Amino acid sequence: MLDFNTIINNIHNNLKHNVVKGVVASYIPELSKQDVNSFGIFMQHMDGRTFQAGDAEVPFSIQSISKVLSLSKAIAFEDNNLWTRVDVEPSGNPFNHLSLLELENGIPRNPLINAGAIVVADILCSQFKNPKEDFLQYVRDIANDQTITYNYKVAESERLTGFNNFAAANLLKSFDNLNNDVDVVLDFYFHQCALEMTCAQIAKTFYVFANSGKCINNIPHITVSQAKRINAIMLTCGFYDESGEFAFEVGLPGKSGVGGGIVALLPNHFVLTTWAPGLNAKGNSLLGMQALEQFTTQTNLSVF
Ligand code: DON
Repeated sequence: MLDFNTIINNIHNNLKHNVVKGVVASYIPELSKQDVNSFGIFMQHMDGRTFQAGDAEVPFSIQSISKVLSLSKAIAFEDNNLWTRVDVEPSGNPFNHLSLLELENGIPRNPLINAGAIVVADILCSQFKNPKEDFLQYVRDIANDQTITYNYKVAESERLTGFNNFAAANLLKSFDNLNNDVDVVLDFYFHQCALEMTCAQIAKTFYVFANSGKCINNIPHITVSQAKRINAIMLTCGFYDESGEFAFEVGLPGKSGVGGGIVALLPNHFVLTTWAPGLNAKGNSLLGMQALEQFTTQTNLSVF
């Protein structure tokens, strides 16, 4: 039987001494305050066991990891227009790329790049009565944790420097692919990205995708088929123009955020979360990618 405790702690101990740790995101000024030496790993096994190393219970900004949660709620609403407004192809481009969006008439390549997540945010702004409050409640419910909250400073910091996202939202609006006002949709989007969670909380939240749509309390939130589709999108699009590399190195559906978090999962087995704020050139956590590669290589646990 695999000794997950030893495996995870050895990976953590070896990698934390790496001299090259990547660069902390600074285009959202609040994120630049993060310590490049923070490093946590948390594993939630489906048999109920948990394993952890380092800063696994320190809250951080989940950023783009939130795009999977907003997508899951939009899918749960069964909005018929979702897949006519957003595609499901890898973009092969950075997360904030705009020229493809213009070329493809305002239909974002997938829901995990910024433009696609902004369309998903627009759907949630239309479907929810109180979008920010209701979305937070959805996340708390699937996490089985009522303490999760937004970091309002991070949301405001992103709003003040969010020129690229304003450009994307305006482009979407010009192609008639946003129903609500740009400011309303982006206010929601900046807050969802500013959700603050620990590796442990993220692992418990993403349990729903590893458990065919049932959360850690065994309550169904999405169908088996919806969970399958979300995992497929994470596998093909979760790491922007490094999605192929992540599938090649790690071999699991997953999602990264510029706060330095990565969540990856093996359906019916486990959810594994890492947090290390230093990013590589593609905006994905450098140590996190290495830790996950070492884990799946040492354990032979991947979807392949
Ligand atoms: O919209 C943005 O730029 C950020 N709120 C999220 C970007 C992000 O996390 C991309 N991830 N690697």
